[in-house]
Amino acid sequence: MKADMFTQEELRNLPRKGTPQPADHTQHAFYGRDILSVDQFNREDLTYIFRVAEEMRAMVKRFGSVDLLQGKVLANLFYEPSTRTSASFMAAMQRLGGQVIPINNVQYSSVAKGESLPDTVRTLEQYADVIVLRHPEVGAAAVAARYARKPIINAGDGIGEHPTQALLDLFTIYDELGTIDGLKIAMVGDLKYGRTVHSLTKLLLLYRVEFYFVSPPILRMPETILQRVRATDQPYTETDNIHDIIREVDVLYVTRVQKERFEDLSEYEAVKDYYVVDTELMRQAKERMIVMHPFPRVGEISYAVDSDPRAAYFRQIENGMYIRMALLAAVLGKA
Ligand code: CP
Repeated sequence: MKADMFTQEELRNLPRKGTPQPADHTQHAFYGRDILSVDQFNREDLTYIFRVAEEMRAMVKRFGSVDLLQGKVLANLFYEPSTRTSASFMAAMQRLGGQVIPINNVQYSSVAKGESLPDTVRTLEQYADVIVLRHPEVGAAAVAARYARKPIINAGDGIGEHPTQALLDLFTIYDELGTIDGLKIAMVGDLKYGRTVHSLTKLLLLYRVEFYFVSPPILRMPETILQRVRATDQPYTETDNIHDIIREVDVLYVTRVQKERFEDLSEYEAVKDYYVVDTELMRQAKERMIVMHPFPRVGEISYAVDSDPRAAYFRQIENGMYIRMALLAAVLGKA
């Protein structure tokens, strides 16, 4: 699907979709636009989305839900398993007063009869105002966006990108530590196949941070991402030893080794338990730092760490709903 992917320049200038609206200062730049990659965002966009997310959080705490997107419909189309992304988009739409068409089991849809992705999205857009898509192939969201007249939001395309996860991750860092510039950020685990760390690294390049990429040698950060880091002159260190960096970092972003991405399962077996963040390791970490994880976890953070106030991963999960509320409102012209 790579041939259909957009260049960085095209991503920054994606056309608006849907019925043209009169110019309105309340309409965000993302009104009617696909959300495909973090390359679409600049710092101003992020400041705006974070401010709306904070408003969404205040609104949820106070009222539970509002009718901002009443009459709007989201099609939630997932070709890969998901708990958080799928459920948080559904919750986001429902708390804004909209409706959801959930297609989480494509094996029970006409995809099982061989229906193509372009036909599936062109069908769903007859019923919905926006489509959230997760797909196992890199570039699938870009393909869908080329065909659909309604906005597509990329909820993860294979080992490619997971832009809404990167937004909620960055929002969580800002929310927890009050800044992004100047932080020392370690990404740990499966940096080769982990789309969340690819998207988050690219987004962090809009700020001034120091990176530590911590992985087994066979799961190093891809060279394409390292080239982007080098191009901005931001310092980075690669290591396979978490003990080398634990005392330094402000953010420890841990990821799962993704069994489903390995062709050779013996390679997975060799690295699956490479890192375990436990209370012993946390004793070496700074007093003011946070541990994050996109989840699901399968053993790389022990349950004993959950009660440590520095464990931010469940707050990170909650933030996902506020960020997705902000994005849906922005894309549908109601932010
Ligand atoms: N973080 C994340 O994408 O989780 P799910 O796979 O459960 O959606």
